Amino acid sequence: MAANSPPTSVDGTFYKPADDFFREHSGLALTYDDVTLATLYSETLPRETNLETELHERLRLRIPIISADMDTVTEAPMAIAMALNGGLGLIHCNLPEREQLSQVSRVKNNVHGLIQEPIKVTADQSIGDVLTLIEQRGFGFRTFPVVDEKDVLLGLLPGHTVRPRYASTKVSAAMTPRAQVQTISEKELGNNPIAKADQFFNEHIGIHKLLVVDDADRLRGLFTISDIERIMQERHSQLKPARDAQFRLLCGAAVTATRNSTGELDRDRILAHIAELVERGVDVIAVSTAHGFSKGVGDTVRLIREDYPELPIIAGNVTSGEGVSYLSKCGANVIKIGQGPGSICTTRVVAGVGIPQLTALYVCAKAAEKEGVRILADGGITKSGDIVKALTLAHGVICGGLLAGCPEAPGQLMEINGKLYKQYRGMGSQAAMQAGSAARYGHSSKDSMRKVAAEGVEALKEVNPPLDIVLTQLAGGLQSGMGYLGAPHLAALREKARYIQVSPAGQRESAPHDIVEVKTGN
Ligand code: XMP
Repeated sequence: MAANSPPTSVDGTFYKPADDFFREHSGLALTYDDVTLATLYSETLPRETNLETELHERLRLRIPIISADMDTVTEAPMAIAMALNGGLGLIHCNLPEREQLSQVSRVKNNVHGLIQEPIKVTADQSIGDVLTLIEQRGFGFRTFPVVDEKDVLLGLLPGHTVRPRYASTKVSAAMTPRAQVQTISEKELGNNPIAKADQFFNEHIGIHKLLVVDDADRLRGLFTISDIERIMQERHSQLKPARDAQFRLLCGAAVTATRNSTGELDRDRILAHIAELVERGVDVIAVSTAHGFSKGVGDTVRLIREDYPELPIIAGNVTSGEGVSYLSKCGANVIKIGQGPGSICTTRVVAGVGIPQLTALYVCAKAAEKEGVRILADGGITKSGDIVKALTLAHGVICGGLLAGCPEAPGQLMEINGKLYKQYRGMGSQAAMQAGSAARYGHSSKDSMRKVAAEGVEALKEVNPPLDIVLTQLAGGLQSGMGYLGAPHLAALREKARYIQVSPAGQRESAPHDIVEVKTGN
């Protein structure tokens, strides 16, 4: 059977390739739920599909998923977990430049399985103080290293002593003293720290934590038996890490079109920061703004490109072919597509602009093809089926809301009526702009203190399981879609996709209906 139906067949009359479908719908802006993909003859099993995507010759991902550069989504823990699972995290820029640099360093220097900044307590605290800390920060563990003001290890506070009945007892009286705490020096870890920690836990029955110290006995990290066991199991999992040529995890960082007090682009400051990011090994810079088809963004991209001819640059956001051409001519390699589709966005409501995502992707994909650049579908992804549809036109997707409830996202857990939530806010929300992201929306930080129209909301997300579980589900859904289309890799998915618009009744039919759901699909 031929893979693609000839256009004269009944199938070809109804299920159209992208060019025919989107041109026939040129007066209508469509998004993910407005269309469905036709299944095709397949010799491809989902588990045999290859999800690799090349965004630039120096930026290859094992899965085409990127975590959004938002202050409630991507800091070092999320970027580490994304890269460990084959994707990429873009560290947001709503924080002091120094702090962003140290986040990038944490990702690039990550030793898998080692908690590099364990939560510590001091000997003069009381058990009551520790209980308050656990409650305030929502920790799910009770064992803490005890250190002095120089981080020198004094002991280990065992979980079984952290109980309300001992609240007035000092940590110094309850801790296991240093001499009895098992440690390993960072030098001993060698080039296979996981194997070393695994061997340690095998040889020390009943010990669940291994502390790492330096030559001066300062605490440098912590291994837990549960992390090591999970990693040993993961070695058999399908999602393999995304690494650079020196075997370090991939990491991206966002910058914005920073301006000085006279409103001019602050060239010196931008370039100085990029130089430090590059020095720390950043793999890609994302020039992130709400309106990428603008002089400020173009000039920022040009500025970086002039000094760094080889550095992969992502820029955006745009929703027009002209916007894609402009940014690619300025020197961007990858363009972010999306204005207003995000789950926390109000740009379309507030400013009356923006294009539903699937139409925007088609229009931009045509320009990207001409310019020889890649595009990313940014925002509005709510399920794995949306990823399949997005990747019929784009080379990767950026997710915010889908990942914001994961433990790896910044922010603390909060309990409301017995359910656990994490904060998720738009970078154009009033709170995020006051914290620094105003430039992304074309305002100055002084403006953000006055009344500027917010283009995002502050929200909560129900907590998600750890990122690896979420990504396995998303990648699994993508593989199923590729199996249905007979697409062994993403290029084949883009080439083979056939679309048809769905009626409102068809949309209702597409989700579980007329049942009492007792267990969700995931
Ligand atoms: P999702 O749907 O994954 O969207 O939650 C994440 C993307 O939304 C964009 N973003 C915003 N857009 N106002 C907007 O109009 C905002 O406040 C805002 N904050 C983030 C951004 O592209 C992100 O990747």
